[in-house]
Amino acid sequence: MNIVTEISDYKKLLAGWQGKSIGFIPTMGHLHEGHMTLCEASTSQNDITVVSIFVNPTQFNQASDFEHYPRTLAEDQALLASAGVDVLFLPDQALLYPDAYQVKIVETIESTLLEGMYRLGHFEGMLTVVLKLLNIITPHRVYFGEKDYQQLLLVKKMLSALFLQIDIVPIATKRAPDGLALSSRNSRLTKAQRAHAAHFPRLLGSDLSCDEIQRALIALDFRVDYIVEQWGRRLGAVWLGEVRLIDNVLKG
Ligand code: PAJ
Repeated sequence: MNIVTEISDYKKLLAGWQGKSIGFIPTMGHLHEGHMTLCEASTSQNDITVVSIFVNPTQFNQASDFEHYPRTLAEDQALLASAGVDVLFLPDQALLYPDAYQVKIVETIESTLLEGMYRLGHFEGMLTVVLKLLNIITPHRVYFGEKDYQQLLLVKKMLSALFLQIDIVPIATKRAPDGLALSSRNSRLTKAQRAHAAHFPRLLGSDLSCDEIQRALIALDFRVDYIVEQWGRRLGAVWLGEVRLIDNVLKG
C-alpha cells in the first residue's frame, strides 16, 4: 500500500493508472468494520482503491470533540493494507486549507435540518473537505455509508449541483451483534454505556411513534437531540454521557 502525504506524489501514481477505475473512501480514521465494508465494495468494483484519513477540524462544532476524536493511525494502516487498499492518502491541514477555510461549500436547505440544527457549520465543513478531496483524488466512484444519512444525501446533492462526474455508492450500515451501528465514537463509551447504547437502535427500529421512542429513551437516561421521520427514514441523535450517537433506519 502506498502512503501519500503530498498531492504531487499522488499525481505521479495517478499518471500510471491510465484507463483504470478508481474508487475512493474518505474517512476520519479509527477504522472499524463499517469503514471496511466501504473498502470491500470499492476493491471489488474498481481497479484501484484510495482511502483518505483526515480528521477535518472545520466539521467539528465542538473543539473538545475534535481533540478527543480517536486517532489510531498504525492500526488503521494495517487494516487498510490487509484489505487490499492501494493508496492511503494522509493530507494535513495546511495542505487541504491553503485558503485558511475562506472558501466554503454551502447547501442551504437540507443542511439546516437535523444534524445541521445541532451541529452548526458541520455540513459546510464536511462538504468543503469532501470536494477538496474529490478534486485531488479524481475518483470514478466514491463510497459513503448510510449510517450518516444526511451526509450521504448532501454529498449526492453537491455532486449533482456542481456537475461532478463521480458515481456515489451508498453502503448499508454495519452493526454490532446487539444492533448498535459501528462508529469511531463508540470506543469513547464506558463498558456500561456501551451495553446500554443498544437500546437506541432497538427503539429506533421498533413500531413505536417518534414521540414514544423519545420518551422511552429519556426514561432510559439518554439525552435526545431528535427522533424524526424524514426522507423515508427514521433518524435519531442521542447522547450517552459525553458521547453523541446518530443512527437511522428505513421507515417501516
Ligand atoms: P467517518 O465518520 O470516518 O466515516 C467515513 C465513512 O464511513 C462515511 O461514509 C460513513 O458514513 C461510513 N461509515 C461509518 N460508520 C459506518 C457503519 N457503521 N456502516 C457503514 N458505513 C459507515 O463521515 C466521515 O468520516 C466524514 O464526515 C468525511 C466524509 C470523511 C469527511 O470528513
